[in-house]
Amino acid sequence: MTVPESPTLLLRRVRPYGEGDPVDVLIRDGRIAALGPGAGEEAPADAEVHDLDGAVLLPGFVDLHTHLREPGREDTETIASGSAAAALGGYTAVFAMANTQPPQDNQTVTDSVWRIGREVGLCDVHPVGAVTVGLKGEQLTEMGQMADGAAKVKIFSDDGMCVYDPLVMRRALEYSAGLGVLIAQHAEEPRLTRGAVAHEGPTAARLGLTGWPRSAEESIVARDAILARDAGARVHICHASTTGTVELLAWAKSQGISITAEVTPHHLLLDDSRLETYDGVYRVNPPLREAHDARALREALVSGVIDCVATDHAPHAAQEKCCEFAAARPGMLGLETALPIVAALLIDSGDMTWRDLARVMSVRPAEIAGLTDQGRPIEVGEPANLAVVDPDSSWTVIGEDLASLSANTPYEGMTFAARVVGTVYHGRMTSRDGKALA
Ligand code: NCD
Ligand code: ZN
Ligand code: ZN
Ligand code: ZN
Repeated sequence: MTVPESPTLLLRRVRPYGEGDPVDVLIRDGRIAALGPGAGEEAPADAEVHDLDGAVLLPGFVDLHTHLREPGREDTETIASGSAAAALGGYTAVFAMANTQPPQDNQTVTDSVWRIGREVGLCDVHPVGAVTVGLKGEQLTEMGQMADGAAKVKIFSDDGMCVYDPLVMRRALEYSAGLGVLIAQHAEEPRLTRGAVAHEGPTAARLGLTGWPRSAEESIVARDAILARDAGARVHICHASTTGTVELLAWAKSQGISITAEVTPHHLLLDDSRLETYDGVYRVNPPLREAHDARALREALVSGVIDCVATDHAPHAAQEKCCEFAAARPGMLGLETALPIVAALLIDSGDMTWRDLARVMSVRPAEIAGLTDQGRPIEVGEPANLAVVDPDSSWTVIGEDLASLSANTPYEGMTFAARVVGTVYHGRMTSRDGKALA
């Protein structure tokens, strides 16, 4: 496949980090070539010009937690459709979780996902490698081979399943420290979540749904912090969902343990009062918790106890979601709605600046994954991986209109002020005004 020559791009009238007066940004050969009020004057006559009307310019977003469903469930998402959703959401790099069919538990599969991502060319697609063969939690995979392959796998996770056996987790952490890779844990003690479909609390009790207690998550977070400490390893906590997890993360960080954590937009915004409708679209792992959990998660993201936002974009077919709550598959779409939600919750409230938002959606996730060309400052000479945000659009979410092949969004019909109106990936526009650009 021939890589298209990247044109010279001129972004007219953008505000880096939403600060100061609008400037022009000239992008050439995949990098920021000039930036300032007069940068446009250096543009060649054939430059591709985008007038952006004072929109906010941010580093392109990095998602540490995406499900792309290829190989195996291409009816619900493909690397191509998921990459388009990512580009529309302002993402320039995504980490594709290993629970595909077959799973990404060997180098053949991880290299193939990486290669297809490159061919699609809408964002960096980094396959996550499985920690254990078949995500069964028993036998460690050949992490070294996946790390040394074409995909250069940097993150390993059995997400969807917890690496529940403490001895297996201990060995995985020891091995990962030697390889310089990161283990990301889906923290769920399976002995405490048999048959669970909803957060264990008053709502589930009233609705007659089997509960997933907070302790199922927190006991694994505490255990893994201690295992990481003793292994001298790093550990990353996927989709933190409870007040207690926030307290444990603060404790572990205060002890100097190398622990990081992500939170999803849905756990920041929604709580289990949504379940009153019995609508399967609200079923997700970990489950939507209570209002105080969502508040603690927002505060932890602002304070840095939680490092970043990750979408846990989890496409599912209509027939797998539009059924009785307990029979619905867990998971919801996230890539195209993450920025509007985080902005609504944390920028509009005054709790965060756009620069803070860039930290939690781009800078920190890039650092955690060890990416060197993502999450970079908006400066001359830096790689042009950028997201353009209109803070005052009025965008209503319609699942059927999303680029994802699935439509399982819990935000159907909701209107948001902020929206991504352009994404630049390695110097090329990959989305503009709600359209992904091939
Ligand atoms: C995810 C999926 O559908 O793959 N589902 C979910 O509810 N979050 C798996 C996971 O992230 O645990
Ligand atoms: Zn890149
Ligand atoms: Zn998970
Ligand atoms: Zn997941």
